[in-house]
Amino acid sequence: MSDDRHLILIGMMGAGKTTVGAHCATLLGRRFVDIDDLVTEFAGITVAEIFAADGEPGFRALERSAVHEACASSESLVISCGGGAVLDPANRDSLRAAGLVVWLRADAAVLARRLRHEVTGRPLLAGDDDTAARLAELSEERAGAYEETAHLVVDTGDRDLDGVCSAVLEELDR
Ligand code: S3P
Repeated sequence: MSDDRHLILIGMMGAGKTTVGAHCATLLGRRFVDIDDLVTEFAGITVAEIFAADGEPGFRALERSAVHEACASSESLVISCGGGAVLDPANRDSLRAAGLVVWLRADAAVLARRLRHEVTGRPLLAGDDDTAARLAELSEERAGAYEETAHLVVDTGDRDLDGVCSAVLEELDR
């Protein structure tokens, strides 16, 4: 592999960032870093607990530190960002400068289907009866930020895991 930039995955909750990231990391022989995991390591409590204690701003501040730390690593990593990491302009700049940024995209209905058993750990979805509508709303609000940050867009709705990873890794190799 000649391309030693970080491989960075962005996109909505349920887009497949963690699954695709872990698989790509195995294929590349790289370490996989999940920004949400770094945040929970820093805080010593879960994402939902951080939101409950300090609100979304408290979470976003920790997320910014985690993005900064991962991007600054001298080791080539595969980095999966939480869905809202791109809301921060400084994160957008850091991510784009630090590696190949891939936006994993899927329709809100697909995201909602994938997340149907995983809403509770996600404070921005918990308490909303219509998960698909909430995801559609968030996707629309964030589309500009994803587009601005990404070097490449890969649709995950109509591809299996191997297909998504091939599309991602092909670009890294160029
Ligand atoms: C969030 C996505 C979550 C997590 C937090 C906020 C978001 O990560 O960072 O609940 O704003 O979209 P995943 O995208 O990995 O679910």
